[in-house]
Amino acid sequence: MSKQRILVWDLPTRAFHWLLAGSFLGAFLTAESERYRDIHVVLGYSVLGLVVFRLLWGVIGTRYARFSSFPIAPRRVLEYLKSLFTRSPQHHVGHNPAGSLAIYAILALALLAGVTGYAAYNEFGGEALAQLHEGVANAMLGLVAIHIGAVMLSSLLHRENLVAAMLNGHKQGPAGAGIHRKHGLVAAAVLLATMGFWAGSAGLLPQGMGAMSAVVQHQAQRGSG
Ligand code: HEM
Repeated sequence: MSKQRILVWDLPTRAFHWLLAGSFLGAFLTAESERYRDIHVVLGYSVLGLVVFRLLWGVIGTRYARFSSFPIAPRRVLEYLKSLFTRSPQHHVGHNPAGSLAIYAILALALLAGVTGYAAYNEFGGEALAQLHEGVANAMLGLVAIHIGAVMLSSLLHRENLVAAMLNGHKQGPAGAGIHRKHGLVAAAVLLATMGFWAGSAGLLPQGMGAMSAVVQHQAQRGSG
């Protein structure tokens, strides 16, 4: 079947992806420093909030964003990986089976990193929990490195720029297989909520709008007290 340029990733999925990537990398880079502790905590909460949104969008989102379109299927992962060594590697319009597995692992680790980070910051679980938090974050960094490598390899194998696709939403696929709505309003809400949270946390919002920042300040007081 001939392929053409079709819309695959809606705007909320793309906004989620780049906000998650930035928040996670920022949180990782600020993890060791006392000076940047507040930034680390705010970015950690952002990761948590974004993943909660993605879990919801995985149920109500568009075709390729929905979890039902990329199930965990070990046999299909093996078949897909085997096909990469043949002349005609399998091509998937949405996430490929190996990528799907990595995505679920990243989402699970991101949730765990957020929850253990919150608990450790509030001194619920002692040193053991802090160690667990660090271990989970390191595992996630390893997985993200594999993820980026796999994206590059996959782009080369399929001669398709997957990074550009995660930016502009378009991939090659059969006519009629594309999604029809970008859901710009939902993406704008995700973007505004995240930016609003960051602005509130930095004390940049007018009085009365800083409910979010109050949460962070409360945490900071507990942390320094
Ligand atoms: C510069 C670095 C990165 C690049 C170039 C990149 C690229 C991509 C691409 C191209 C996809 C789509 C894969 C496909 O076609 O199936 C994707 C998906 C994904 N990436 Fe990344 N990524 C990066 C960093 C990250 C980071 C740091 C994280 C996590 C903290 C992450 C988590 C994810 C997740 C969860 C998905 C699934 C998106 C969804 O369906 O919602 N990525 N990434």
